[in-house]
Amino acid sequence: MNLKCGAASLVIGMQYGDEGKGKLVDVLAEEADLVCRVQGGNNAGHTIWVDGKKIITQLMPSGILQKNCRVAIGAGVVIDPFVLLAEIKKIQALGYEVSPERLHIDCRASVILPYHKLLDQKRELERSKNSEKIGTTGKGVGPAYASRAYREAPRMAEISNPTQFKNWLDAQPHLKEGLDAQVLNEFFEVAAELLPYIKDVAVIANNCLSQGGKLLLEGAQGAMLDVSFGTYPFVTSSNLISGSCAGGLGIPPWKVTKIIGVIKAYSTRVGNGPYPAELSDPLASELRTRGNEFGSVTGRPRSVGWLDLVALRYLSIINGMTGLAIMKADVLAGFDRVGMITAYKDKRTNKNREDYPMTIQDWENVEPIVEFVEGWSYVMKENKVHKNYVQFLKKIENFIGVPSIYISAGAERSAGLWL
Ligand code: IMP
Ligand code: MG
Repeated sequence: MNLKCGAASLVIGMQYGDEGKGKLVDVLAEEADLVCRVQGGNNAGHTIWVDGKKIITQLMPSGILQKNCRVAIGAGVVIDPFVLLAEIKKIQALGYEVSPERLHIDCRASVILPYHKLLDQKRELERSKNSEKIGTTGKGVGPAYASRAYREAPRMAEISNPTQFKNWLDAQPHLKEGLDAQVLNEFFEVAAELLPYIKDVAVIANNCLSQGGKLLLEGAQGAMLDVSFGTYPFVTSSNLISGSCAGGLGIPPWKVTKIIGVIKAYSTRVGNGPYPAELSDPLASELRTRGNEFGSVTGRPRSVGWLDLVALRYLSIINGMTGLAIMKADVLAGFDRVGMITAYKDKRTNKNREDYPMTIQDWENVEPIVEFVEGWSYVMKENKVHKNYVQFLKKIENFIGVPSIYISAGAERSAGLWL
């Protein structure tokens, strides 16, 4: 694909996360000048395979593994400084350059404190008593965003100066939970190591655009987990849809000219919440094993299901998707038939509906109507796509009205085709 000069392209997940955005961003980053994370935190886990080696990025934009681009973490992200520093060191140890010339961290990104992680776990424990557990990743991401909304969370700017950080904590002593003298000292040390990377990323991104550079924005999680438009309250704590992504970086929204939605050829969900697409065993466990569907951050087994076209059509509208990337169709190779959800049956009325459920009660009361297409024995051979897989793609395109632009047929960079 050609990324546009002086414009931004956005890659976002159109399911429940783990669609394979990491691989796509890695592939596209070869062309990009600056690759940016715009929301979320280390709840994200992006798996990328390079030369037979698996690398998982959490806070680091996936572009870091391509040599010619710079990367940035925007103001919309929440950062656990310990995790970020460990990730910088891990990637440096693999032989990649992660210097302050290459990685830029916005001074306004909020900081995840031990307090936020403790609160995340405490809230989940409380919720589990009422069977309302969200199944968060436990990384403190939600409480850190809440804390930002309360205007109490320190930002990277505030932790960079020990006196300032101490004063900040003294003014809001509840934030000190889990921060004893030793941990606080470690915090200062980590902050000092991160200091050279901390900048005004909005200026860097806008300069890149005005100089004709190619920006790539990397969404985390997936639109079904958007805090406003997902299966609330079983969602993550940030906005993920395209309209919010420019704001997580500080660029004008009209600069985002390509919006690439990413899906798997089937679907997965990790954590709790409604998931009408979910399959049961033995098919589910077969698909999970074939696709290695275990959380890259938490190791939890992911629930698996067919592709939900009803949800995808809705999300393609609210995101203004300009192209669709379909990942992991190779996982389905060999199945006699492959399902896709084309409507829901509402159990309360016994009627079919094709609209997107809006409340948790709606979600819990729909069951999927599944249509099947013939399966494929391979995705492509010598760049020729299997005819049954072409039919599958056509069905998606007709249903949602968005063209497929990329198909992935394996984990490696080379296993994919631009259409
Ligand atoms: P939190 O983001 O840790 O608060 O978790 C809220 C929900 O989002 C849970 O269902 C998590 O499993 C899910 N979640 C958060 N980040 C990701 C991700 O990167 N991939 C998939 N699911 C995620
Ligand atoms: Mg993931």
